[in-house]
Amino acid sequence: MNLKSASIGIFAAAGVLFSTLAGGAQTVCAQEETVIIYRLYNRNTGEHFYTANKSEKNQLVAIGWTYEGIGWYGPTSGDPVYRVYNPNAAGGDHYYTANQAERDYLVNQGWKPDYNGAPVFYSGGDIPLYVAYNPNAQSGSHNYTTADQEQQYLLSIGWTHGAKAWNVLRVGEEVAQPPKSMYTVDGILIVNKKYSLPADYAPGENPVAKEHLLRLIGDMKAQGMNISDRYSGYRSYAYQGQLYRNYCAQYGQAQADTFSARPGYSEHQTGLAFDLTGRNGELLESPREAQWLLDHAAEYGFIVRYQNGKEHITGYIAEPWHLRYVGEAAKDIATSGLTLEEYLGVEGGGY
Ligand code: DAL
Ligand code: ZN
Repeated sequence: MNLKSASIGIFAAAGVLFSTLAGGAQTVCAQEETVIIYRLYNRNTGEHFYTANKSEKNQLVAIGWTYEGIGWYGPTSGDPVYRVYNPNAAGGDHYYTANQAERDYLVNQGWKPDYNGAPVFYSGGDIPLYVAYNPNAQSGSHNYTTADQEQQYLLSIGWTHGAKAWNVLRVGEEVAQPPKSMYTVDGILIVNKKYSLPADYAPGENPVAKEHLLRLIGDMKAQGMNISDRYSGYRSYAYQGQLYRNYCAQYGQAQADTFSARPGYSEHQTGLAFDLTGRNGELLESPREAQWLLDHAAEYGFIVRYQNGKEHITGYIAEPWHLRYVGEAAKDIATSGLTLEEYLGVEGGGY
């Protein structure tokens, strides 16, 4: 089920409690250490998944899981909670328990301990977290919530074994689902097959990005590389449409979609993306130059946006020539080895 059908309490502060003293001065009176537990949902299998690992959360979102919000806030220590995985369930299934004997029993039955058997969370605090079991589900058979209303709803539609699972520090918060157009995360405009731009969004070439690009090209030239001054940068919605329709006519839509964005779905419409060309005028893909871009583009604020092995996330085959300006974040993204989608936790993949 979706959190939308349940009411979840909202907390304004995460991790730090503030109070106003009688004298009027505001000070931090208690530093409450909390761990955020992210709640995700898989539309295909019906499974809810809970993790304290932000990178794991982001990578799941990038491959199509829905981030529903914060499941709960847990303590940084206390009674351990374990996660086990049922490899025999269709679609896979996870179960979380603070009961070591129960965990050991399940492992004996063929379930696999996650995290090498280390705790994934801790129990502690005054707020009960409830578990319920769906006897009709192969995958996603357990749901965990601090919301009594959600728990009661599940029990009313046939879920069973409703019980307190363990304790947490604070209740969770639902998040609104991101808009599908002009969506930015940390100031970075997201454009992929899930997030589009309006037809009338026509910012032109971004002058800051261009300045950095010209410096990058100049430095490549200075090192004797195969690079020309010509590049394909800003493209309007209408022009992208022309390109895409031509490719469709030539290759068919299924193939065109692997390398050309539909109008409204191209990063080139942002004015922040640039295709580099070699001296022969062809798109740049010679190994030395491609490697240099992977190693150095971030110093200029760019990422190589479409890389080998990431097609299922970016939605496109590798394009060693396509640079996307993201500014300061570029270095951290490049070092992470993650796609922009995985790094920011936004959905990727196909249309
Ligand atoms: N070639 C990239 C994906 C574009 O058309 O924007
Ligand atoms: Zn491009």
